[in-house]
Amino acid sequence: MPEYQLIERLNTTKAIITIIGLGYVGLPLAIRYADQGYRVIGIDVDPNKVKLLNNNKSYIDHISDEKIIKMRRCGFTATDQFSVVSATDAVILCLPTPLSRQREPDLSYVLNTISSILPYLKRGQIISLESTTWPGTTEEEIRPRIESTGLQVGKDIFLVYSPEREDPGNAIHRTDTIPKICGGITAHCLSVGKALYSPVTREVVQVSSTRTAEMTKLLENIHRAVNIGLVNEIKMLTDKMGIDIYEVISAAATKPFGFVPYYPGPGIGGHCIPVDPFYLTWKAHEYGVHTRFIELAGEINSSMPQWVVQKIVDALNKVGKPIKNSRVMVLGVAYKKNVDDARESPAVRVMESLHHKEAIVAYSDPHLPIFPKMRDHHFDLKSTELTEAVLAEQDAVVITTAHDQFDYDFIKTHARLIVDTRGVYRFSDPKIVKA
Ligand SMILES: NC(=O)c1ccc[n+]([C@@H]2O[C@H](COP(=O)([O-])OP(=O)(O)OC[C@H]3O[C@@H](n4cnc5c(N)ncnc54)[C@H](O)[C@@H]3O)[C@@H](O)[C@H]2O)c1
Repeated sequence: MPEYQLIERLNTTKAIITIIGLGYVGLPLAIRYADQGYRVIGIDVDPNKVKLLNNNKSYIDHISDEKIIKMRRCGFTATDQFSVVSATDAVILCLPTPLSRQREPDLSYVLNTISSILPYLKRGQIISLESTTWPGTTEEEIRPRIESTGLQVGKDIFLVYSPEREDPGNAIHRTDTIPKICGGITAHCLSVGKALYSPVTREVVQVSSTRTAEMTKLLENIHRAVNIGLVNEIKMLTDKMGIDIYEVISAAATKPFGFVPYYPGPGIGGHCIPVDPFYLTWKAHEYGVHTRFIELAGEINSSMPQWVVQKIVDALNKVGKPIKNSRVMVLGVAYKKNVDDARESPAVRVMESLHHKEAIVAYSDPHLPIFPKMRDHHFDLKSTELTEAVLAEQDAVVITTAHDQFDYDFIKTHARLIVDTRGVYRFSDPKIVKA
């Protein structure tokens, strides 16, 4: 039986693991497998990433070159050739699953990759999809493509869905400590899936189907999106009422049961929270269901950058300055603190709106020295170093992402006006506006 041989190869670290998509999710996973003694091959279509990795260099801020060197010593190689799949036992897909311009799921990265690997699939392999997606993807989209080769899923080849729960930059919860959800197309698939992930994670949480695993990941992210939407709405109210939202959250969090603190901000960003919930919204239409919580949270969260911009306009107005030609510096362009990822970042929306209002926009972000290339946004800017003179010449600075590397006392001393969207300053001060 091919599953027994495959499980044996996985249990004895003889199995060769291919990881396709070496981004924020795929690269840490590759490192983890190599650490556990597996030979790992990484495939990525970005030639620059392949070159850097093969030259022992990392391209992710929180992953050191030393980790890449160690992984290379364990036999890791990166390539853009899908043919290597034929020599491996396990293929793990960590590919982007964005939304299209019409805000519909864009599975093209996953489906194109499946087409690329089909000629190299063989009996006795396991394929695992980790990308976030709508319930039914693995069974309805991937299984038929694999079976078109004549290989039968559950008998010849094994197929699972195991969502990634990576939290880049989180020092406490890492790839190895975060329990891993896994659902298989058949019971045999699930047994092999458990053998695939048990060596690299503390716990494999087995669920009854790939659809359940896909829905579990979506529930986790929708839960976050909805609760952030809720707290952002409450913030807009407490702001008008003169109540400090952060004091309220801290006080509520003393309740030892039934309350989970979520924090407001200038909106939501990253590859997951602004995107994933709409994979479910799209699929729900097939069942005649309108996912109202998701839509409402999306509406509130996506209105936050504009709310922040209005706060900046009002704060400047109060000191007799129009937004046009005012110097405004945005502090933190990454979507969350201490990372170098600016995908879907609300800070970029704030910058864009300020730019449209003809403010003179600059930014400072120690994690993003050059403004990153983006599909829909463009700023030809470099990060500005925060000196006394730079801060003093700004009409306003806006804290959009509260990186630990910023010196908040220094900023407070030298900036003329601060708009704080992250609750950095917990006291009242005439030059600080909470937004
Ligand atoms: N970043 C996170 O924190 C996080 C957390 C949980 C889940 N996820 C999910 O994991 C998936 C991957 O996210 P990510 O953040 O790692 O994305 P990413 O953009 O950082 O990485 C994806 C990688 O895939 C490569 N790629 C694209 N098309 C390819 C192809 N056809 N063949 C080979 N490589 C290809 C890209 O060059 C890139 O290096 C997404 O579905 C995301 O929603 C991400």
